[in-house]
Amino acid sequence: MNAPAPLAANATATGLEGVVVADTRLSDVDGERGRLVIAGHDVESLATRTPFEGVCALLWGRDEASVREALGRGRARAWPKLGVLGDALEAADGMEALRAAMAHLRASEFPDDADVAGAVAVFASAWARGRAGLPPVAPDAGLGHAEDLLRMVLGDAPDAARVAGLDAYLVTVSDHGMNASTFAARVVASTASDTISAIVSAIGALKGPLHGGAPGPVLDMLDAIATPEHAVAWLEAELNAGRRIMGMGHRIYRVRDPRAAVLERALLRLEQAGRSTPRLGLARAVEQAAVGVLRARHPARPLLANVDFYTAVLLDALGDRKSTRLNFSH
Ligand code: COA
Repeated sequence: MNAPAPLAANATATGLEGVVVADTRLSDVDGERGRLVIAGHDVESLATRTPFEGVCALLWGRDEASVREALGRGRARAWPKLGVLGDALEAADGMEALRAAMAHLRASEFPDDADVAGAVAVFASAWARGRAGLPPVAPDAGLGHAEDLLRMVLGDAPDAARVAGLDAYLVTVSDHGMNASTFAARVVASTASDTISAIVSAIGALKGPLHGGAPGPVLDMLDAIATPEHAVAWLEAELNAGRRIMGMGHRIYRVRDPRAAVLERALLRLEQAGRSTPRLGLARAVEQAAVGVLRARHPARPLLANVDFYTAVLLDALGDRKSTRLNFSH
């Protein structure tokens, strides 16, 4: 990262641009070149050869086998808590449900980072099942995290291609510098509060469509556009109405978000394995149209696809469109 210019005396920074608030070894974001390095590894290589347990091991400084075991234990620990969540999981919005459900946990009962990640998987899948009118599926602590999460959402053992697709997604979004939700979590953690409180704050920040809440609106956009030839007119109308194009633009990247490419490649691997990726063709056409429309309006500001654009398409392809969904912002 370039060294920021010092603020003039008495100047007020609007936002954190150019303001260094912490050092981290966890990830490095190069917005000019479009490079994301997580715990010393390029996101492209990490997402193709490492399961979620592997990236957690790197981020948490633990070994992969013990992380796998701890995540399984965390999921098992969260399962009985489904009975004491009140109406938390009845919210129509998945992120609202998750925020409310996580807030029910006592930090003393979920002391390990892996406990927290395990609880998120159990609550998120129970919410997805509930929206489809289906009962929750109990975790299997012996399985890998992505496999068990998919099984808890879908109800059946998922095939290896789907598991690899979800692992690629979880690894890709595992860390991203000092983004808004990480910052929110760190503010809470710095008061010597507890991890659950920090995560609840982070979920609140992540829910916003300007941060992690864009995948749902991206799917709505693809549904509204329906065919590539309608894309330009729909996008123009959206901008004329003063709205933003979801899944486009990024605070840091001035080139295409590298995570968009990683998730697009994960979709192609799903296709190669014989799974259908229903919205991929349309998504690519809409991305191309959006780049053109945004370039015409903001010639000096590159506004290109971000991680949420292909998150929407990948999670859609991994779920079962007729019943259960993996996209919690939709
Ligand atoms: N659609 C339309 N216009 C956009 C845009 C988008 N997706 N993203 C930025 N712009 C425009 C802004 O309206 C602004 O125009 P102006 O100078 O005429 O006021 C200009 O580009 C710069 O916007 P700014 O808000 O300073 O950019 P930012 O870097 O702070 O914003 C995002 C980053 C992600 C918040 C923004 O690109 C956005 O809202 N994207 C859509 C939501 C989204 O995809 N969220 C997921 C992020 S990973």
